[in-house]
Amino acid sequence: MQGDIDRVLISREQIAQRVRGLADEIAAVYADDAAGLVIVPILAGSLIFCADLIRCLPFKMRIALMTISSYRDKTTVGATPQVVHDLTADIRGRHVLVVDDILDTGNTLGLVMRDLARRQPASLRMCVLLRKKGKAPPSLKADFVGFDIEDVFVVGYGLDYDNHYRNAPDIGVLRPELYA
Ligand code: IMP
Ligand code: MG
Repeated sequence: MQGDIDRVLISREQIAQRVRGLADEIAAVYADDAAGLVIVPILAGSLIFCADLIRCLPFKMRIALMTISSYRDKTTVGATPQVVHDLTADIRGRHVLVVDDILDTGNTLGLVMRDLARRQPASLRMCVLLRKKGKAPPSLKADFVGFDIEDVFVVGYGLDYDNHYRNAPDIGVLRPELYA
């Protein structure tokens, strides 16, 4: 697997340090509102990020899973995303923090945020590990961002190519010849 990575963009040490920093930012914002907080990890990309992030948060929380399919194969920008597994919990009146791996075009998180906003949470915020600069519409703002990156396709730390490489500990760029 490591042989498939052309270059490391963000090392595991850099990720760990930034995740702790993000948790501090989140803890400060929710200082008075932490009671009843619901974390919504968007699967499968946020699996590893969210697992690390929530273990740095110093208050009680609940987790409500949501799975979105963007019907994209491999690295191509796909069609309309769809909810393939919805929350099983009611978030009305709750403080909700959506956690995802990457904000790219914003199609996926745009759908998620619109959908969750309709359920009348007390507040709704978004945390992404990565953001590709200037690609999402200005109306779709992430409240917490780990790293701004250039517009390259990255894998590792939960991010996949064809559902592989999620377990790579660093975030890296694949060798170009591996793209189908
Ligand atoms: P968006 O809908 O274009 O914002 O893309 C969001 C989803 O596309 C993410 O949750 C990822 O699953 C996937 N994605 C976008 N860019 C990358 C990348 O560079 N590597 C891996 N997956 C990506
Ligand atoms: Mg994905």
